[in-house]
Amino acid sequence: MDVFEAIRCRGSYRTSFTDAAVPRAHLEKIVDAGIRAPSGYNGQSTSFVIVTDPEIRSKVAELGGGSAALTTAQAIIVVVMDPEATSDREFSFGVEDYAAATENMLLTITALGYASVWIDGVLRRNDIAGEIGRLLGVPADREVRVILPVGVPAEEPSQRAKKPFGERAWFERYGG
Ligand SMILES: Cc1cc2nc3c(=O)[nH]c(=O)nc-3n(C[C@H](O)[C@H](O)[C@H](O)COP(=O)(O)O)c2cc1C
Repeated sequence: MDVFEAIRCRGSYRTSFTDAAVPRAHLEKIVDAGIRAPSGYNGQSTSFVIVTDPEIRSKVAELGGGSAALTTAQAIIVVVMDPEATSDREFSFGVEDYAAATENMLLTITALGYASVWIDGVLRRNDIAGEIGRLLGVPADREVRVILPVGVPAEEPSQRAKKPFGERAWFERYGG
């Protein structure tokens, strides 16, 4: 699958995965795509914990809301931000950095025939991100920002409808 097809086929997948394995080499390829994402000042403020151990995976799944996708995923990729990575520079780009890394991984997940969903909002409630971080040994000065369940989808993932190009993009001048 080329990059255009991956962009078109990626869709947030929230239902069950099959029990087909996700080989370690594929997980490494997915996370390598995250590592290769651009980052402000090349600060590389995003790091990753790949959870495959069933016992730890189920604890992360439960903390993350226990959705079908999380509880049946073969792996959960935990995306961690270092908010201080470029604190000696004028700007901080931790959020942009982890977002770019996450999208690179979602496209790679799609291209390899897997599915996922960007789980973020739920982690911000009741210090769930902190709890996941402590479970995984994430240093206290780093922040868990996203978790990505990964598996072979039992159903075809579908991307939610997008507004047409002409409502969101123009040549030369905002609004056309
Ligand atoms: C910053 C961000 C946060 C998100 N948080 C969640 C979340 O917590 N739970 C969830 O199920 N989906 C989450 N999503 C996925 C969006 O709901 C999804 O991308 C959107 O509805 C469009 O659907 P699509 O991904 O199929 O195009 C998030 C996406 C982004 C970019």
